Amino acid sequence: MQVDISESRILIVDDTKSNIDLLVSLLGSSYRLSVALDGNSALIQARENNPDLILLDIMMPIMNGFEVCKILKSDPLTSSIPIIFITALDDTEFITKGFKLGAVDYITKPFRIPELRARVHTHLSLRHAMLAYANQNRILESRVKERTKELRDTQLEIIYRLSRAAEYRDNQTGLHIKRLSHLCRILASACGCDDKTADVIFNASPMHDIGKIGIPDSILLKPGPLDAEEWKIMQTHTTIGAEILSGHDSLLIKMGEMIALTHHEKWDGSGYPQGLAGLDIPLAGRIVAICDVFDALTSKRPYKDAWGPNDAFDEINAGRAASFDPRLVDCFLNCRSDLIEIVRSLNSAGQKSCAF
Ligand SMILES: [Fe+2]
Ligand SMILES: [Fe+2]
Repeated sequence: MQVDISESRILIVDDTKSNIDLLVSLLGSSYRLSVALDGNSALIQARENNPDLILLDIMMPIMNGFEVCKILKSDPLTSSIPIIFITALDDTEFITKGFKLGAVDYITKPFRIPELRARVHTHLSLRHAMLAYANQNRILESRVKERTKELRDTQLEIIYRLSRAAEYRDNQTGLHIKRLSHLCRILASACGCDDKTADVIFNASPMHDIGKIGIPDSILLKPGPLDAEEWKIMQTHTTIGAEILSGHDSLLIKMGEMIALTHHEKWDGSGYPQGLAGLDIPLAGRIVAICDVFDALTSKRPYKDAWGPNDAFDEINAGRAASFDPRLVDCFLNCRSDLIEIVRSLNSAGQKSCAF
């Protein structure tokens, strides 16, 4: 972006009127000037008008230029405004102090006019370059954020759609995994997970049954009960799912792998595939176990009607200690109304009639 430096605003601070008149005569035709005759009004003007440059006299009564500079540099509103000290004192100690306080330059009186103009011009150019750079950075940052979100949304959508594909043979609506995600997030938050963890569980839980892709139709879609051999094969959907998702470092995929492997483990150790018990079962697996059963109970299946929410909550409660982590069951029952509400809203969006 091309910046017109003549549009720059310069604040001149000096208690001697003749000095101000001189500076105005030298710079007034090139820039937009404002003046302050003391430190206090300089501070007020700097805050209100945000000038591009301040020419600051050092020797002033009440508040000298060093004090003004100190206050300006400590205020986030004015700290980035470049300050050039104007002083009759060609004194190394004073100049050093000015630089230490954050001044960008100094000009000594009497002015050498071309030098004054050149320095003012240089610092204004620098100021505009820095503003443009900061602005460009802001634009880039917001673009990167936008793109990162787009990418992340696409990743989540792919996960959801692949999970749907895996469920498609025995559940074509895709509503089960959608409801499960929401139920899991509510339970995760209720049992003390932070928002980030609850979100990861929300996004990973659709992958819990991804291993069903490896189960033959004759077993997955069998209308009657499975015999022992078939049941053994059916159980491998956990290890197949974990295998499909293994070997990737992303937190989300790792969580998906863990959930796929452990969502059929039971609190008393009677679950599968590893027979883990109690707190050996990862938290996400224990969360999904409860929500998966709850959703299965409240959904209509070819072999059963959908249960009403109260019966399903009773069943979950009855499974405490045997199937489910008792603490999580308490948390689950404590958020009954939130759980019912989310299932209702998802079902009505999916136009599914159910017992809710
Ligand atoms: Fe499963
Ligand atoms: Fe499921």
